Amino acid sequence: MLSYRHAFHAGNFADVLKHLILAKTLHYMTQKPTPILYIDTHAGTGRYPIGNSMSQKTGEFERGVGAVKEQLLDSEFAPYGEILKRHLSNGHYPGSPQIAADLLGPRDQLRLFELHSTDFPRLSQWAGADRRIKVSQSNGHLALKSLLPAIKGRALVLMDPSFEVKQEYKQAVASLGEGHKRMPNATFLLWYPVVQRTQIVDMIKQLRQRPIKDVWQFELCLSPDTPDHGMTGSGIIAINPPWTLATELSALLPRLQQWFAPEEGHHTIQNLIPE
Ligand SMILES: C[S@@+](CC[C@H](N)C(=O)[O-])C[C@H]1O[C@@H](n2cnc3c(N)ncnc32)[C@H](O)[C@@H]1O
Repeated sequence: MLSYRHAFHAGNFADVLKHLILAKTLHYMTQKPTPILYIDTHAGTGRYPIGNSMSQKTGEFERGVGAVKEQLLDSEFAPYGEILKRHLSNGHYPGSPQIAADLLGPRDQLRLFELHSTDFPRLSQWAGADRRIKVSQSNGHLALKSLLPAIKGRALVLMDPSFEVKQEYKQAVASLGEGHKRMPNATFLLWYPVVQRTQIVDMIKQLRQRPIKDVWQFELCLSPDTPDHGMTGSGIIAINPPWTLATELSALLPRLQQWFAPEEGHHTIQNLIPE
């Protein structure tokens, strides 16, 4: 049974990194006219009310986006900053489906997967009558097999598991491998939490054993790695990211680190496997 609910965590520091990277990647990809297939294997509810009991219970939004929303309006954080401003003014934090729906055009398609029995109807209601969007209450890992390769030739996959169980690290690499095999030129973004560093080291080791190139790691941590329980940071493994992304993030991650964790934070920008 799934117990993770993203509403408790929406707009935390980890969402800032993930959604900043997602928005920059989508913005780059939409500069070319060919339609894009966007696949969100773990979609959540689309957007999240702020200031409700779930968000207040953890205080993660307040310590995350809530603490830096003015700074995120700086043009270097575009287009994430403007999207954020628009939805916050309506009382919501934009999740990955909302960010994608805002940035994609009328000829693009969104395929969103969410398994949770409470969150799926919310996602479905959020999608409404937008004809670009199809939602499905099914396993997002399996979706890649049926949807890739994209018929029109361009695709972005966001894989954002909740990592409730250890096997999800292995599962994520296996799914990325399957997806990449079907469409080697697609762009893949895998989000991961930094809880036990060994799990990430293992995940990267497994990725290196696959015939995948152009792999990057972007990570932001609030405190040093520790074997104790709890998330100290998070990152994105990106396959075929926009060539501009690493340069942009090399200016932005130090700023996020300074805002969120000036004393103990650290960040990584690494080309794990070259092109
Ligand atoms: C971290 S949240 C997603 C947040 C969302 N991507 C965003 O950035 O706004 C992960 C979601 O995946 C769902 N989930 C877990 N396992 C899944 C699976 N195998 N297929 C589809 N959804 C799954 C959970 O119920 C949860 O809502």
